[in-house]
Amino acid sequence: MELKKRNIPISLPVTGEEEWQATKEPLMTGWLTSGPKVSEFEKLFAERHGVKHAYAVTSATTALHLALVALGVGPGDEVIVPAFTWVSTANVVLYCGATVVFADVDPVTFNIDVNDLKKRITPKTKAIIPVHLFGLCADMDAIKAIAKNIPLIEDGACAAGSGYKGTPAGALGDLGCFSFHPRKSVTTGEGGMVTTNNDKYGELVSMLRNHGASISEEQRHKGPKPYILPDFNLMGFNYRMTDLQGAVGVVQIKKLDKFIDEREKWANYYDKELAGISWLRTPQFDKTIYKHGWQSYVTFVDEKISPISRNDLMEYLQKHGISTRPGTHAVHMLGYYANKYNIKPSDYPGAQAANDHSMSIPLHNRMVADDYEYIVNILKQIK
Ligand SMILES: Cc1ncc(COP(=O)(O)O)c(C=O)c1O
Repeated sequence: MELKKRNIPISLPVTGEEEWQATKEPLMTGWLTSGPKVSEFEKLFAERHGVKHAYAVTSATTALHLALVALGVGPGDEVIVPAFTWVSTANVVLYCGATVVFADVDPVTFNIDVNDLKKRITPKTKAIIPVHLFGLCADMDAIKAIAKNIPLIEDGACAAGSGYKGTPAGALGDLGCFSFHPRKSVTTGEGGMVTTNNDKYGELVSMLRNHGASISEEQRHKGPKPYILPDFNLMGFNYRMTDLQGAVGVVQIKKLDKFIDEREKWANYYDKELAGISWLRTPQFDKTIYKHGWQSYVTFVDEKISPISRNDLMEYLQKHGISTRPGTHAVHMLGYYANKYNIKPSDYPGAQAANDHSMSIPLHNRMVADDYEYIVNILKQIK
């Protein structure tokens, strides 16, 4: 049967009139840098993720950087990151002058392989960054059991609204980091958040994002002595989120659960409809333990039995108007890291398999029922 071609992007943010209206207030008042809208967004984000503190920054990458700085990571330290993740999970370790130590991932969940992680811990391990890839939390209890006194930074870039054993992402480690890039479920254009229940880390992150200033711009301007500049007792950065972004974030965060519910409904539809395609593995996880945030729906093409390779399949789907992407990349296979640490692709077989065989198919809140049905029907026709 010839299906009428549709054009379905891999992802599209849901922004519109409400977000547009929200940006008016900062533009009219002139408070454009971090101010009341960022504070409101932080409060809502902290409430939703069950944490004491949330600090908005410019991206998940800068969030991760600050989390490492707050932990005091520096030269001579090792930080363990999964080998299959976005490159910046590793880059931030180098920003601190520390050494990246990769751990392999489980090619089924795409998250850190706890048995491999165990082998990578040394007396120099200063932190571990478990990634909640595509919105599925890492197995945090298993990680905590082997990482005893090592601080954990959750890379929850994809995991706004995700959960593990009833606890939200961002409240599972010592610090949590989130992204509001447009490919995430909720967006502020670019943007990030650091969460923590630890007052000391929170205070450090709050100062570090604002050049190391002892008080924020808003506190100074609205305080009794706006003419006195703050103290600077730390070397900080300018990682402040603007209030324009904060205003968009306030609108978006209120829609997070609705977006996830809708994504979950269609993820279940994919699970059911694609179950008969033996060579295409759908996401596998225990629903009694994990609340998936469904940032992406990532499949695995088993080329031992598939009639078509993953790359040819992506090309075929593109020709039929369906955008796909590899889930993400294996960082140890990227030129920079492969050369720097002299690593072979096969040194991390789980990450290599995920790199070569994962395929994300469209799942987002601008899709309609006909889009999902079309994708399923095209995939079912491949013999
Ligand atoms: C796992 C992971 N970590 C970090 C990042 C970086 O996020 P940002 O673009 O907000 O810096 C991403 C972005 O895709 C990601 O997927």
